[in-house]
Amino acid sequence: MSRIYIFDTTLRDGEQSPGCTMTQSEKLAMAEKLVDLGVDVLEAGFPIASEGDFQAVDAVSRHFPWVEVAALARASTGDVQYAARALEHAKRPRIHTFIATSDIHLKYKLRKSRAQVFDDAVSAVSLARSYTDDVEFSAEDATRTDPDYLEQICWAVVEAGARTVNLPDTVGFSVPEEYKQLISRMVNCLGDRATVSVHCHDDLGLAVANSLAALEAGARQIECTINGIGERAGNAALEEVVMALKVRNDRLPFETKIHSEKLYATSQLLSSFITFGPQPNKAIVGENAFAHEAGIHQDGYLKEPTTYEIMTPASVGVPETRLVLGKHSGRHALKKRAEDLGFSLSPQLLDELYARFTHAADKKKGLRNEEIIALVHDVLDSAPAAEPVSVDSL
Ligand code: KIV
Ligand code: ZN
Repeated sequence: MSRIYIFDTTLRDGEQSPGCTMTQSEKLAMAEKLVDLGVDVLEAGFPIASEGDFQAVDAVSRHFPWVEVAALARASTGDVQYAARALEHAKRPRIHTFIATSDIHLKYKLRKSRAQVFDDAVSAVSLARSYTDDVEFSAEDATRTDPDYLEQICWAVVEAGARTVNLPDTVGFSVPEEYKQLISRMVNCLGDRATVSVHCHDDLGLAVANSLAALEAGARQIECTINGIGERAGNAALEEVVMALKVRNDRLPFETKIHSEKLYATSQLLSSFITFGPQPNKAIVGENAFAHEAGIHQDGYLKEPTTYEIMTPASVGVPETRLVLGKHSGRHALKKRAEDLGFSLSPQLLDELYARFTHAADKKKGLRNEEIIALVHDVLDSAPAAEPVSVDSL
């Protein structure tokens, strides 16, 4: 099975997005969690961008010497030198240098010709190689770049010593089939001289789909972030990529070294450091990812979990499946919850409880355990003395 390298950029692309700034100690705690999770490359910052980023790269390099630590640098002498300095204590340093290659970026942002950008890319990679063997080049906005020109640059940077060539969908514009074709072309051009990497943004909600499509075309590194944080709509979510490969290994025969049962804790730690958590219906780590409210779903789930769950909560480290007791819930789930709370009710009492429950649930978004217990007590208080009830525990 082909091995896929997970390049985590939570601390760089993720951290540079609104509401995601982290302190030095938070970055270190996050880095520890990511290392423990099993990421292959940890992009710790963009040293020239801020003193904090420089310090973060330096601190992560010192604390986790056995980890491959990457630092971002524009394709310029100063940036590359600064990234190299930040990585001075890393045992496995990677300099990740980039320049935009699309005409729209060349014309309006860089105001440079294709020839100048070509030269800058090659010079930056050559300089980076004088510090480390492990150099990655990214062609920013690759998906809106003339493919012939992109191919020429990719070939030249590999000649100059880049070991990894990343083709970002910087603005989240591509669609899976199209991205797959682009990656396929570059993989064919570079052969086994370099690892082709993908870095997809989620502006159209396609970051994960595009990343997975690229694997089928021969990409072997995916750049992604926890909870999918990152510029604008974010990056491909690490947890979604990893679980898609795990759950659909029949169609996607690739493996990563991620310990998936640590995904939820990693997501939770990140949420505690930044200003927002994943939306409740976020795949894998959202609050509702393993919650069921509809009666038919709860009934099916209680009979056999695989009816409505394609992976176990334990496989991603979520403590347990949540049966939400709300107005869509059924009798089966209510009975189970009453039992979990220590009450074995006769069918008659359960009928009475269910009637009271649906009445209450109609007015609320969901009932908490204390409210269920109160309803059970109401039912018991109003039951005829002869009605059988056993209380297992209180
Ligand atoms: O989105 C992008 O193009 C990037 C590069 C710097 C890799 O983040
Ligand atoms: Zn990016």
